[in-house]
Amino acid sequence: MLLLFETFQSPNGCIMLSFLLYCFIILCCVHHHVTLKDEEAIPLISKYFNTKRRYEEVNPYVRQDILAVNRSILQPPSSQCREIHLTAIIRHGTRYPTAKNIKEMQQLHNIVLNNSIGEHSWLREILTQWTMWYIEDMDGRLVQKGVEDLKHLAIRLTRLFPSMISEEKLRGGLIRFITSSKDRCVNSTLSFKAALTEMWAIRDVEFGHEVNDALMRFFEQCTRFVQEVDKNQSAVIDVQKFKQGPEMMRVQEKIAEHLGVPSSFITYDLAEAAFFLCTYEFAVKAINSPWCQLFDEDDAKIIEYASDLREFWKRGYGHDINSKSSCILFHDLFSRLDKAANENKLRQQVSEAVTVQIGHADTLLPLLTLLGFFKDTVPLTSTNYASQTQRSFRTSHMMPYAANFLLVLYDCGEGVIRLQPLLNEKPLTFPGLTDQQVSMPLYEDVRKHYRDLLNGCDFETECQLFNNPAEV
Ligand SMILES: *[C@@H]1O[C@H](CO)[C@@H](O)[C@H](O)[C@H]1NC(C)=O
Ligand SMILES: *[C@@H]1O[C@H](CO)[C@@H](O)[C@H](O)[C@H]1NC(C)=O
Ligand SMILES: *[C@@H]1O[C@H](CO)[C@@H](O)[C@H](O)[C@H]1NC(C)=O
Ligand SMILES: *[C@@H]1O[C@H](CO)[C@@H](O)[C@H](O)[C@H]1NC(C)=O
Repeated sequence: MLLLFETFQSPNGCIMLSFLLYCFIILCCVHHHVTLKDEEAIPLISKYFNTKRRYEEVNPYVRQDILAVNRSILQPPSSQCREIHLTAIIRHGTRYPTAKNIKEMQQLHNIVLNNSIGEHSWLREILTQWTMWYIEDMDGRLVQKGVEDLKHLAIRLTRLFPSMISEEKLRGGLIRFITSSKDRCVNSTLSFKAALTEMWAIRDVEFGHEVNDALMRFFEQCTRFVQEVDKNQSAVIDVQKFKQGPEMMRVQEKIAEHLGVPSSFITYDLAEAAFFLCTYEFAVKAINSPWCQLFDEDDAKIIEYASDLREFWKRGYGHDINSKSSCILFHDLFSRLDKAANENKLRQQVSEAVTVQIGHADTLLPLLTLLGFFKDTVPLTSTNYASQTQRSFRTSHMMPYAANFLLVLYDCGEGVIRLQPLLNEKPLTFPGLTDQQVSMPLYEDVRKHYRDLLNGCDFETECQLFNNPAEV
């Protein structure tokens, strides 16, 4: 290109042409640079970020247009079907690390500053440019990106279900908001509501929300879960074993090698802190941090598994009480669906057209587990990492920031009511109901399928700490 450019220099008439060519090259380069930069900003390992993953990574089409929706995914079995109720159970948006994690990040940063030797450019960057800007006070609070996560989700849901989330229904008091008491959830709720009132320029009314930890933080109130699992080291023994196992040891050694520090310096907690630094710098600031260079894809998959293993034993299929602790939310959900179906049958207006419930990954995982979603045939254990690469219980797919579980009730005419579940704006199939209309089975079939839970699954009974009858 440069040669070509110079040959055009000599004849006078060609100066203009060469100038144009020059501009063309510059434009190309600039354009190319921008494109490259966009791609470079996404860490190669971002698909293994577990519950620290950006929503945009799970639904890549929103990367191009954050407000994009595709209504044709809903595919109602007949054109007569119209929505009569929507429940949206939503995880809060992007948040800061917890104080505990921030302490560990700090500790790792100090170790690197005081001990690291090495010439990698990314290590130089950590040593000379990167500053530890997280402070303990940030402790899990919602970040600005998290405020936007919920605003964008609110607008997309309005576009996906325009007859449900509408100005008329909001003004008519038919949309109800319930949140966990945690700051990040309350602020997520405020953000969701603000998106609606801003969109419709509503300034004359304010819409309230209820704080309800019994529903949204049931895991704290279920005594049996707290005693037998949450506070019980033996309940997560597989997690401990995996953290000390050969796969994780190798990851820790590799990190120490990359950093040029003695391998005894890098414990599991510090390896995790390094991973968190990569995930948070991306989630909060949208940058591909030099900390990400510490991990190749294999390392990231191992750390992802350690985290899934923990969720599996603490929130998922590992112990029956994990999912049973959500019985209260399960019944809340179905009684609302029943009520909407009945009101509709009696040709009354559905009194609660939309329910928006904002909680945590810890709220959603037990409920999804209770309903039987993402269940693998073999449990996740400390020794089967290699055979679990295709597992469906994968928090990186299920539980990014602003993860949302939607249940949409449809009236399809002639008394036919159908129910559609969606996770992160994509239809799911109820496990065990696969022979039904692709993702929209009859509501009565769903009720039949969950008959035992509907007739039982009593929070008080399940969560009670009872002694072994033999000991009484
Ligand atoms: C929308 O979803 C339908 C059905 O899943 C799919 O065939 C179509 O390609 C999607 N359209 C866009 C623009 O993504
Ligand atoms: C590293 O150095 C800082 C300041 O020089 C000191 O406060 C800190 O304790 C040191 N940390 C380690 C792990 O040696
Ligand atoms: C929530 O919003 C309030 C008011 O805007 C703000 O003062 C507070 O710091 C926010 N909390 C979080 C967790 O972001
Ligand atoms: C702790 O968990 C283990 C393994 O699940 C269980 O056998 C034990 O009973 C639990 N301990 C308590 C105090 O619940």
